[in-house]
Amino acid sequence: MDNIKIPTHVGIILDGNGRWAKERGLKRTAGHLAGYKNLLKLSKYVLDKGTKYLSVFAFSTENFNRPQEEVDYLMDLFIKGFNEDRSYFKKENIRVVFSGRRNRLSDKVVAAMDKMEDETKDNTLGTLNICLNYGGRAEIVDAVNKIIKDNKKDITEEDFKKYLYNDLPDIDYMIRTSGELRISNFMLWQISYAELYFPKCYFPDFNEKEYDKALEEFTKRDRRFGGLNNHEQS
Ligand code: FPP
Repeated sequence: MDNIKIPTHVGIILDGNGRWAKERGLKRTAGHLAGYKNLLKLSKYVLDKGTKYLSVFAFSTENFNRPQEEVDYLMDLFIKGFNEDRSYFKKENIRVVFSGRRNRLSDKVVAAMDKMEDETKDNTLGTLNICLNYGGRAEIVDAVNKIIKDNKKDITEEDFKKYLYNDLPDIDYMIRTSGELRISNFMLWQISYAELYFPKCYFPDFNEKEYDKALEEFTKRDRRFGGLNNHEQS
């Protein structure tokens, strides 16, 4: 397909790691490791194609309700992954930021996140926004509480945006892998006008080829933002 459209901000709900592992007779945690490795490669691919922001849902506030063994595995993966792969993000010129509440995360996880943010802050290829201990409603409520603390009486949408966790544009294209048709509290403010795409494959299998298919689909979409499209205007 010619003239592929490139979304400025892509969001991905990384779903299906557990099922990917189960189908291979592996433990669910093996699926998370495969998902993490896929994310390293995929984030570079997405940003190399010209997208400036990629937001991914790594861990929701509700994910703390999973079996303790799985939560512990994921937390260890975050510590080890962020510490070991900082050099990868530096080499690839990717800025990494985190969205979510820092409470309930161990000092080691928070330290690995802080170091990652600090050491990649001047990178310019694009931004990988990792949502960790994140909830979309919590982000809005946290913003409202900051606004109250600032003694604001009246606020516009543009002002409100400044109180969200990170300074990001709206999401243009929201992808959820594994065929589930839900938003699950992911970036509720930012997806207002996003095009939605639900490929069947599990996240560890959502590779470069699958992403190219996703871009072809995005290119076909007629985005209206509540107005009329080009054909309807005359
Ligand atoms: C959903 O699959 C995935 C998660 C809850 C965790 C996502 C984590 C990773 C991809 C690894 C770490 C990523 C980062 C960014 C550090 P699921 O367990 O819900 O799968 P299932 O629906 O098949 O059970």
